[in-house]
Amino acid sequence: MTTTEPDVPNARAGSGFADWTPQELEDNGSLLLRRLREHFTTLRGRPVTTDRAAKEIHDLIDEPLPRGPQEFAEVLEQTWRDVLPHLTQWNHPRFHAYFSNSSSGPGILAEMATAALNVNVMLWDAAPSAAAVESTVLRWLGEMVAYPADGDAVLVDGASLATLYALAAARERLDGLDIRRTGLADAPALRVYASDQTHSSIDKAAITLGIGQDNVVRLPARTDGSLDPAVLDDRIGQDIRAGYRPCAVVATVGTTSTGGIDPVGELAEVCAHHGVWLHVDAAYGGFWRLTESVRPHLPDLSRADSLVANPHKVLLCPMEASALFSRHRDALTQAFRLVPEYLSTRQEDGSVDFMNYSLQLGRQFRALKLWWIIKSFGTDGITEQLTATTALADRLRRAAAATPPWHIANPDSPFPLVCLRHAPPGLSREETDALNRRIHHRVNAGRRCYVSHTVTDAGYVIRVSIGNIHTRSEDVDALWHELTAAALAEGSPT
Ligand SMILES: Cc1ncc(COP(=O)(O)O)c(C=O)c1O
Repeated sequence: MTTTEPDVPNARAGSGFADWTPQELEDNGSLLLRRLREHFTTLRGRPVTTDRAAKEIHDLIDEPLPRGPQEFAEVLEQTWRDVLPHLTQWNHPRFHAYFSNSSSGPGILAEMATAALNVNVMLWDAAPSAAAVESTVLRWLGEMVAYPADGDAVLVDGASLATLYALAAARERLDGLDIRRTGLADAPALRVYASDQTHSSIDKAAITLGIGQDNVVRLPARTDGSLDPAVLDDRIGQDIRAGYRPCAVVATVGTTSTGGIDPVGELAEVCAHHGVWLHVDAAYGGFWRLTESVRPHLPDLSRADSLVANPHKVLLCPMEASALFSRHRDALTQAFRLVPEYLSTRQEDGSVDFMNYSLQLGRQFRALKLWWIIKSFGTDGITEQLTATTALADRLRRAAAATPPWHIANPDSPFPLVCLRHAPPGLSREETDALNRRIHHRVNAGRRCYVSHTVTDAGYVIRVSIGNIHTRSEDVDALWHELTAAALAEGSPT
């Protein structure tokens, strides 16, 4: 009989190799937690991004494939020395690019626990209580966005794949076609409709599903960034007469560029009239419903055939958590359920096999981080945080509105997403675009704040997303200072 060394309980007989002992895990874990404590204590004072060129960063990090073991303390040291300073710090209080998001304490620890448990939430039997946690979390998330959660629901990594799955479900529902079985060869050309403000993930989904990018009909948005139902209705009618088969409409609640909101109720009427699936991309906008200031601006989402909302954009949750819902029970499973013998298990009342709701078979226990975040903060705490965030955006809007020639290019958006344009009189549109681009790049080069941009009807705008849990009014004031200083330094005449 092999006896196990008491100090190396995981060692294999006759082998020097072993996983860390539980004691080593705790010791190394403490080293990491100490680093993280220091990281968060000093983060506000450190640069948001790196000043090194891509090649330099590769040179710092690239090394021959390691053969021998290395002490974890050294690996950690190298990570903190060579990797951390050359990240763009998304969890920094002055990161305002793309959609600024947060990784909060319970989410961080849940990621560690998820890896330690390493369960695969593919079949009920494979991870029973994890599947139950996922079902509960999905019901909670549905409640937060006021979407009926009694149909199909699943957590996926991001909204791009959620939309792909939703459009696959829409395609599967097309009467008289059986594309899942026969493919697209004999099908009429399918079409997907959206406004020109809709996220590029719709095109990627159409490419992947064989619908084709040319069959994504992007209709020009109105000045507030929304899709006009009458224009949609006309276009679907024209396409039907021309022999196309409308498959789905994608409406957005919180467009990426400017935080626009499509009129979901009216679009649902158009879709019902033509028998077309309505998917709502509420990846960014959905969870802001928790706040009193945004809620009145949000449409009723319950008529959407499917809906995606991203906890990883808004709910203080680390990356890769997106919730996909369809109010039609079995809509997702009809598209994705495929059970080979080696995956068939006993079914019992209440069991749920999440592998049947998307393409993904092996699935991490993604729901744990959401369960911990929602339980640790409560919806009251989350709402308080999101409300404070909208107030910070208002602070920036007020500063800009009081300081011509700064303009707010998306005044209708209720979200903490502020599109700013510095437009001194006397400059052409091209000159103003170039000036704003230079201001944007100068601000980011200073590395104290980080913003992104988009192009609206007004031209090039500096896009400020406020959404990090650590952001305070002093950070927003610092950003405003950077923006105005950059405008001056770039020779703005005013
Ligand atoms: C409106 C909208 N939809 C979809 C996406 C894609 O989200 P993900 O990164 O989760 O795939 C984004 C990303 O920012 C977005 O803004």
